[in-house]
Amino acid sequence: PVLVVDFGAQYAQLIARRVREASVYSEIVPHTITAAEIAAKNPVGIVLSGGPSSVYEAGSPDLDPGILELGVPVLGICYGFQVMAKQLGGEVANTGLREYGSTAVHLATADSTLLGDQPADQTTWMSHGDSVSKAPEGFEVLASSASTPVAAFASDERRLYGVQWHPEVKHSEFGQRVLENFLHRAAGIPADWNSDNVIAEQVERIRAQVGTARVICGLSGGVDSAVAAAIVHRAVGDQLTCIFVDHGLLRQDERRQVEEDYVASTGVRLVTVDAVDQFLDALAGVTDPEQKRKIIGREFIRSFEKAASDLVAEAASDGSPIEFLVQGTLYPDVVESGGGTGTANIKSHHNVGGLPEDLQFSLVEPLRTLFKDEVRAIGRELGLPEVIVSRQPFPGPGLGIRIVGEVTRDRLELLRKADAIARHELTAAGLDGEIWQCPVVLLADVRSVGVQGDGRTYGHPIVLRPVSSEDAMTADWTRLPYEVLARISTRITNEVAGVNRVVLDVTSKPPGTIEWE
Ligand code: XMP
Repeated sequence: PVLVVDFGAQYAQLIARRVREASVYSEIVPHTITAAEIAAKNPVGIVLSGGPSSVYEAGSPDLDPGILELGVPVLGICYGFQVMAKQLGGEVANTGLREYGSTAVHLATADSTLLGDQPADQTTWMSHGDSVSKAPEGFEVLASSASTPVAAFASDERRLYGVQWHPEVKHSEFGQRVLENFLHRAAGIPADWNSDNVIAEQVERIRAQVGTARVICGLSGGVDSAVAAAIVHRAVGDQLTCIFVDHGLLRQDERRQVEEDYVASTGVRLVTVDAVDQFLDALAGVTDPEQKRKIIGREFIRSFEKAASDLVAEAASDGSPIEFLVQGTLYPDVVESGGGTGTANIKSHHNVGGLPEDLQFSLVEPLRTLFKDEVRAIGRELGLPEVIVSRQPFPGPGLGIRIVGEVTRDRLELLRKADAIARHELTAAGLDGEIWQCPVVLLADVRSVGVQGDGRTYGHPIVLRPVSSEDAMTADWTRLPYEVLARISTRITNEVAGVNRVVLDVTSKPPGTIEWE
């Protein structure tokens, strides 16, 4: 792999993704890694990420100097560039000249390995206080900016390179080319990592892990579990059985999409558990969001365990026990849980819909090395229905936390209709790419006066909460065209009995969370 050394988590993840976009497999490692540990991973290249610190601060993250002596090609970016400069005997100065945002750089030479094939004057994205004031001995200065004489340097002989700007950020005009030059030209790494060989590799790995045992997988209707199950099915066929719990909190048509479209395109064996009554009975009278989550989480585990134990009993009687459980864990979760810094518990939720840790199965996690967009690409390659592959994030507790107030059958029916209309119109307007997700929320305890037809109404409002986001940690409200909002509003108030108002949530996160509960 190419190893991305993490001096700041968002930077490292973005770099890792861009490296993969250049068809080269990448992994993130902490900056505390030693040269020996790096060598043990046999990397074909190393990228040092940017980060929020200054190399001057006491306790600022450092790098084992042995890493630059391994003979592995290295590209340092921003903070990583400065760490390199310092360790290799160059100078880093606090010039007091900060550069932040779009910054013009001028290339010193047209045909360098790192910055070849691009114009001499270009716009880059910078974010730094310190600057490299002198390149290390034997290094060539490749570029400068108005306030930074050394904005990039290189030693082709030692295969060590660095840039002050952020090539991984789209605002750097030729950023991806810089990364590709490093990977393909400087380090000589072929561009051969793609969906096809990820699938092939995972299939082989799963076969080796699972052998002839049986496997189960819970499907939620979302992308991750759908793709994970499809890869496992490709690997071991009918040794896999999927379990889909219908808790009655799904959106319109989702059950059918799983039972019919997904099954038709993959051929997986599916057991559906119809647990609608069980969930709605348990939720009766409950209005507190955390309480709802606890109940939904608990009932989900009950239904899943019941279905699993039925399958276990059946499998045991025919002599091939179930030993494995598929989980759709993605790479950001793996990296973040390795990072270990605690985050505040804002909602007790992010694993609701998950499974208890004491289940008696070993885990199969075919997506552990992948980012979400890669999972989608693989889903398409595997021929999954587009409605599932491109589905927006949807919370485990489903519509249960999109009804502010008690969850009842009638309210669910009403919200399902409103949600389906909003989704249909947003997709028809070609806005899916701009929107991270758009919760549609029913304010069941609020009523307002309206006039529809000839009469006065006293109905409920529906809230539209379209947000744009990279990772759901922060979000901004999406500026939707008025015509689209108007169409959604007209259709919902005309077609959904009991709703006489549609309102738009224009709050960013923070302070508002994405969901209303
Ligand atoms: P918030 O509302 O905290 O949501 O801004 C951030 C992201 O998490 C999703 N979300 C959930 N996902 N179980 C889940 O699996 C939950 O209980 C839950 N609550 C929120 C939300 O849809 C958004 O993508």
